[in-house]
Amino acid sequence: MGFLLPHMILFFFFIFLLNFPPLSSAQTNGNITVGVPLTATAGSNSSWLSSSREFAFGFKEIAPNSNLFLLCIWYDILPEKTIVWYPKDTTPAPLGSKVELTPDKGVRLTDPRGEEIYRSQSFSGTASYGVMNNTGNFQLFGEDSGSDPIWETFSFPSDTLLPTQVLERGGLLSSSQRQTSP
Ligand SMILES: *[C@@H]1O[C@H](CO)[C@@H](O)[C@H](O)[C@H]1NC(C)=O
Ligand SMILES: *[C@@H]1O[C@H](CO)[C@@H](O)[C@H](O)[C@H]1NC(C)=O
Ligand SMILES: *[C@@H]1O[C@H](CO)[C@@H](O)[C@H](O)[C@H]1NC(C)=O
Repeated sequence: MGFLLPHMILFFFFIFLLNFPPLSSAQTNGNITVGVPLTATAGSNSSWLSSSREFAFGFKEIAPNSNLFLLCIWYDILPEKTIVWYPKDTTPAPLGSKVELTPDKGVRLTDPRGEEIYRSQSFSGTASYGVMNNTGNFQLFGEDSGSDPIWETFSFPSDTLLPTQVLERGGLLSSSQRQTSP
């Protein structure tokens, strides 16, 4: 027994580990802090989740083992993990790239050498936090912006319109609309 016990402890520890998914989704309750980066990591699609856990904002590996990631929002609850937003005109990010919220540049994506790949378009004011909204909209808020976001992905649609999203006058979808709602 004295020799079996360590094995049993290991066994139960292993079972315990199996019951938890890999820690690739940060527990944020939808609220994202300035200056806390998310890193493109091998074999995982690291993300910030909305509080409902329906939508994820983060790095999605373009193909398994490609080590190339698309910064995007996807519908995390469907097995297909349909992508609903990505920044237009952005090249895929290599392994080790980071995305973080910065007060002056908003959403900022940099490669492992620190070179900027993408930043959210200009906004007035200073970003103080972000929210991965349960509607699939990633929003940036300023200190005094109250409930009005200073920047949001819904204003920059890629190829998909979500149920509460309105295509603004002059807005453009870059390819045909896909069905994304369940
Ligand atoms: C998110 O965090 C900011 C700053 O800490 C806070 O002011 C805001 O109320 C929070 N929003 C939500 C939806 O939790
Ligand atoms: C990450 O996303 C890619 C592309 O959708 C998928 O092929 C892959 O299985 C995902 N990896 C994990 C660990 O979920
Ligand atoms: C989420 O975004 C919608 C608009 O897309 C807005 O009406 C709603 O108030 C937002 N929710 C939160 C918690 O910010």
